[in-house]
Amino acid sequence: MRTPVIAGNWKLFKTISEATTMVAELKPLVAGTSHVEIVVAPVFTALSRVADVAAGSNIHVAAQDCYWEEEGAYTGEVAPKLLKDAGCSHVIIGHSERRQYFGETDKTVNRKTRAAITAGLTAIVCVGETLAERESDTTFAVIEAQLTGGLADLSTGSLKQVVIAYEPVWAIGTGKTASDAQAQEVHSFIRSLIARLFDRSTAEAIRILYGGSVKPDNVRGLMSQADIDGALVGGASLKADSFAGIVNFAD
Ligand code: PGA
Repeated sequence: MRTPVIAGNWKLFKTISEATTMVAELKPLVAGTSHVEIVVAPVFTALSRVADVAAGSNIHVAAQDCYWEEEGAYTGEVAPKLLKDAGCSHVIIGHSERRQYFGETDKTVNRKTRAAITAGLTAIVCVGETLAERESDTTFAVIEAQLTGGLADLSTGSLKQVVIAYEPVWAIGTGKTASDAQAQEVHSFIRSLIARLFDRSTAEAIRILYGGSVKPDNVRGLMSQADIDGALVGGASLKADSFAGIVNFAD
């Protein structure tokens, strides 16, 4: 049985006090939830304070990006071990906004993923096709290239520290969710690809999250699909009640 992951990606929202208040509000709403790995991803500046507030609860903290070097003359970058030091257990890597606006490539995703794993973090590796790619029937080829490149040279054992997030770019922040069947089709493709790249038991164990306009009222249908193991949530993760409504999808 794969433990579902529900992760909130707060993007460039929330001051430190807004972020800590949100986690303080979320804690009692999800305190009884033991069957879900709950993750929130605030901006870098709020990570350590959010981790303090979440300490001892079932809420884990993720960064939204990292660098691949441990230290050095790399002005402005943050190393995975510093994320651990700030209280993170997870890091999001290769989000489509980073690919679109900040030059992230499959190669940099791979370097960051390997560095995150070495530092002991769980990497939430994001993939997904654009609308033009879907309309030209290249979705599977795009996902295959992103995962083959992004997960290159990883040992099979290290895949235990990887969660994949399938986020069709056309569904992010648009209110247009992939249908349950559209999402399931890609998730199933991803699982068979992981079996091909690694092995069958690794593929069976890996969690594959769906992301793109997930809300409390559509999460159940998505979670009922055989290969959907959770959600990466943007907009609907910013308020405690709506995020808790997604975390508690099974209630
Ligand atoms: P959304 O964002 O839920 O606001 O569509 C998802 C994401 O970008 O991870």
